This record gives sequence, C-alpha cells and structure tokens, in this order.
Amino acid sequence: MTTQANKSKPSKVIYDTDPGVDDAMALYYALAHPAIDVVGITTTFGNVTVEQAAINALYLTAIAGKNISITKGVKTPWCKPGEAPPTHIHGRDGLGNLTQRVATTNQLDPRASAQFIVDMARAEPGEITLVAVGPLGNLSLALKLEPALPALLREVILMGGTITEPGNVSPVAEANIWNDPHAADHVFTAGWKLAMVGLDVTHQVIMPVALFKRIADKHRHIATDSLLHAVGFYANFYSNLYPHVARIHGCFGHDVLAFIYLTNPEFFKLQSGRIRVATEGLAQGQTMMNRKDFVDYAQKGWGKDKPVTQVCMGVDSAACTTEFERVMMGDWLSR
Ligand code: BDR
Ligand code: CA
Repeated sequence: MTTQANKSKPSKVIYDTDPGVDDAMALYYALAHPAIDVVGITTTFGNVTVEQAAINALYLTAIAGKNISITKGVKTPWCKPGEAPPTHIHGRDGLGNLTQRVATTNQLDPRASAQFIVDMARAEPGEITLVAVGPLGNLSLALKLEPALPALLREVILMGGTITEPGNVSPVAEANIWNDPHAADHVFTAGWKLAMVGLDVTHQVIMPVALFKRIADKHRHIATDSLLHAVGFYANFYSNLYPHVARIHGCFGHDVLAFIYLTNPEFFKLQSGRIRVATEGLAQGQTMMNRKDFVDYAQKGWGKDKPVTQVCMGVDSAACTTEFERVMMGDWLSR
C-alpha cells in the first residue's frame, strides 16, 4: 500500500472542509501532525453555511497561531436545492455555540476554493493530497475548471459515503454525499487515486469527551479549550442517539479518520470497487459499490471505464484513538 506517513518530508495537503465540530478535530490533528503540511484550506456549505465555514476555518487556525491560505467555496449543491444546516448537531455557529470568540486578524484568500485547488495543483503537480470532509462541490467545480486535475493531484481522500453501515441521513445515505450527490458522483468517476473513508469505519471509532479534556488540560490553550467545548455539544447529540456512545459520553470522529488514514493506513482494511452515487429518489446520496466486477451488468454506468476507489471497510479503532491522543498531546500550539 502506498503510504505517505513514512516519507521523510511531510505530505502537502489541501483540506476541504465545512467546520463543523469533527472538521475542527480533524484540522487540529492535521496541524499537530509533523507528517502533514496543510498548504491551504478550502471551505464549503454543509454543517454550516459556507460563510460560517470560512469564519470558523479562519478562527480555528488563528487561535492555534497558524496563518494558512483559506478560501470560500460553493454555497449550495450543484443540482438540488440547499437545506438549512444541522444546528442540532454542530451548533448554530458550527462549533457547539462557543460562548465567546476572541478578536483575530487572519483574512481570506480572495480566490474561490475551486480556483485555489486548481492553482495549487498546477503549481506543484503530483505533490498535493486533497483531504475532503464535506459535500464535494469544490472538487467537482475544480474538475470542471481543470479536467486534468486527477493527474495533477497526488491523491484524494474523502470522508463520506457508506457501503454496508446504515446511513446517517437516510437508511442508505451519508450526509456529505447526500448534501451534493451529483458532485459526489462526478468525484467518484473522475479517475484520481481515491480513497473513501465512510461510515463503515467512522461509526466504529468513538472518541470520548474525556480524551479531549485530557488534551485541553495538557495544553491550557484557547484552541484546545474551544475544541473541548465544541466536542461536548457534539457528543451530547451522539449520546442522545446511541446508548453505546452515551456509555462513554463520546462522539464519532468522522473527519479525523480521513487524516488518520493518510498518516496510518495500516489501521484500515480496504476493499476496492467502482462506486456510483444515486442522485435521485429514495436512495439519493447512496454510495453503491460494484463488488462483482467480473459480471457484465446490463445496467449501463458500471463499465470498466469507471475508476476504482479504495474503500475503508475495517478499522482498528483503539489504534486510531490512541494515535489521535498521542499526536494532539505533542507540542504544536503557538502561544
Ligand atoms: C460527515 O457529515 C458532517 O456532519 C461531518 O462533519 C462529517 O463530515 C459525517 O457524516
Ligand atoms: Ca465535515
């Protein structure tokens, strides 16, 4: 398996995100990890509006003492109407309703997110990994701007979709894919090196609030205090929904697993298959995988011209939480 974690120089990553509590967890894991160099953050609607996503990305990086290029991306799904953000999961502000925010000065890069992705990929062909953890409109738009993008990026890792685990928006659909199914199908059929980190694995990794408390106690820093606050809100949502999550008062780490896949692919079991996304009807947002590639199906759209995705189907959840805590306990925050 190709892994970027064992390379001597850090992986350059553009982080496409809709922060969002688990997006914030993932951002801080990426900033804390010495093998990851976040070279840009692109934002999208999803957990919050794109305006709030950009505000949150600026805020989270600023309070952590980082100044990274951040852009604003798509506001709505490609084809279907947009919906109100899920304030009951991530809070009205996307970060569990932070009680106050300190003043910060970081500013947005004026480019649209899709243009930023294209510019960065053209400037360093084959160098950049794109980690996408929200609806996939920015990637889809970037593909329209630069059809050669799959050859210009090193790899795309996305948190989204599900194969056998029940969905979280419908019995078959995961939220990021459901939020923009047409963009997702475009991304799954584009032909890049693509890994899917979906609910099949993210629902197996429960992160206790107590873990974030230990991290906050270690650093005594506004960034980790804010993360602890946000995770507390998010964990209440998951704990009200699932008794096994309530028992440890935790939450699913969803987006952080996309980065853990980047740094520690050995924690995951993969299956490869061609994926298509249902764009209409009851199954809208379902990620369907062809697991019998030798069958010549009558239904069009499943031919061998469609690319293969590496799908995470199993995970060592204890290894993930242990590694997350180890990385977050490191010395990564500026004072
Ligand atoms: C995904 O949807 C969002 O709510 C989370 O941030 C994550 O990206 C989980 O289905
Ligand atoms: Ca997300």
